[in-house]
Amino acid sequence: MHTNSVSLFEDALSNPTAAFPSQHLRAEDEVSENTRLTSIQWQRFSVPFEYPVAFTHGLFRQQNPLLVEMLSLHKEEKQHRCLIYIDDGVATAQPDLVERIQNYFKAHASRMKLVEPPQVVPGGEQIKICPSQVIAAQKAIHRLGVDRHSYVIAIGGGAVLDAIGFAAATAHRGVRHIRVPSTVLSQNDSGVGVKNGINFNGVKNFMGTFAPPWAVLNDLTLLESLDRRERIAGIAEAVKVALIRDKAFFDWLEANVEKLKAFDPEAEETMIRRGAALHMRQIAHGGDPFEQGSGRPLDFGHWSAHKLEALTGHEVHHGEAVAIGIALDARYSVLAGLLPPGEELRIVELLEGLGLRIFHPQLIEPTSEGEPAILAGLREFQEHLGGELTVTLLSGIGQGIEVNTIDDKRVMESIAWLQAREDSDATAQ
Ligand SMILES: NC(=O)c1ccc[n+]([C@@H]2O[C@H](COP(=O)([O-])OP(=O)(O)OC[C@H]3O[C@@H](n4cnc5c(N)ncnc54)[C@H](O)[C@@H]3O)[C@@H](O)[C@H]2O)c1
Ligand SMILES: [Zn+2]
Repeated sequence: MHTNSVSLFEDALSNPTAAFPSQHLRAEDEVSENTRLTSIQWQRFSVPFEYPVAFTHGLFRQQNPLLVEMLSLHKEEKQHRCLIYIDDGVATAQPDLVERIQNYFKAHASRMKLVEPPQVVPGGEQIKICPSQVIAAQKAIHRLGVDRHSYVIAIGGGAVLDAIGFAAATAHRGVRHIRVPSTVLSQNDSGVGVKNGINFNGVKNFMGTFAPPWAVLNDLTLLESLDRRERIAGIAEAVKVALIRDKAFFDWLEANVEKLKAFDPEAEETMIRRGAALHMRQIAHGGDPFEQGSGRPLDFGHWSAHKLEALTGHEVHHGEAVAIGIALDARYSVLAGLLPPGEELRIVELLEGLGLRIFHPQLIEPTSEGEPAILAGLREFQEHLGGELTVTLLSGIGQGIEVNTIDDKRVMESIAWLQAREDSDATAQ
């Protein structure tokens, strides 16, 4: 086809009149005439993407050169213009952060400049449920003359990074964007990837783009102010990626539950670095960084998680919902004959050991038609991905496997198993 189109193109160049139809065609001419009417030229180019994912302690300590260096990755010797957004959860828990940032900019004034004082934006899902913050950020980018060689820097959890990342990706068709993830989840998962977005019409992540960031700067000291609930919930994404890709990491997580629960700094950093590296490897080498196919291995455990978040009005947070989704799909994998029986116990024990729930009553709530509402999550998952339904399950620990059908009855059996397990644990206590 390609060769053919090239020859059509060459034909048209050597004989331009052939591209125009003649008034009177003989029947035997029609086929070749039609072929001449249509010519296809294939446009083809590839753009290599690369961006640094750095790990540091104390990003805004004046002696820490990381941020300044990241602004000059292209060796542009000038005073770089930056617009900074901070998650209000971080700003409230770390009241001196704004001042520390301003002092950092003052200390490096020849290389960087704040176009206005750092702006505090609502943290958590609040920023994603309506487009107002995205529009406000785009207006600010316009008003302050932030161009495509300036930087929009977002400091916050996955939700703030998603929303501000979307604003940066769409203003001027893409302003340089630096992510400074401030939760365990965003440092080991969402922050290192290529997606952004907000919810729209009640559908999670409906509006968004694939836009690789300029840089990702993981500052582990930012996590110190994160509350226990979020700090634990984010580990679910590390469990997820270990389960589909890396058995040794899963074994390590099992062996380090107590340290992880106690936020032992070394264990937490190892978990985050390895989780981030696995997510990065999947994006770079999984063959589909912009998710054009139907499969999405990194969304193991997510079809039900996204639905559960919506059904509970985000009272169940993303990482918590992912833990439940992992437990559900692990049990389902056993019932489907894919995962050896008993392996799902190791998985739920790890999640429970970390203090994560594996069941929520909304999993069995019916719709007005009497169907379990959670099952609509499968249809929505398929719609979001496009193409045929593709769900990642497990054929072993560290081994994801894609399937194209999910049996509703088996889903409900898996949920019943999770409920029975949680009920018996509650009785035992
Ligand atoms: N783009 C992607 O590829 C991708 C992947 C996974 C998840 N996500 C999205 O990420 C979001 C979840 O992100 P999350 O788990 O990071 O949580 P989050 O962004 O919802 O933040 C949770 C809470 O923690 C607060 N907070 C954040 N950092 C803090 C800190 N250092 N100290 C004190 N409080 C802090 C926030 O204000 C918020 O109240 C969801 O919207 C999810 O859809 C995106
Ligand atoms: Zn997730």
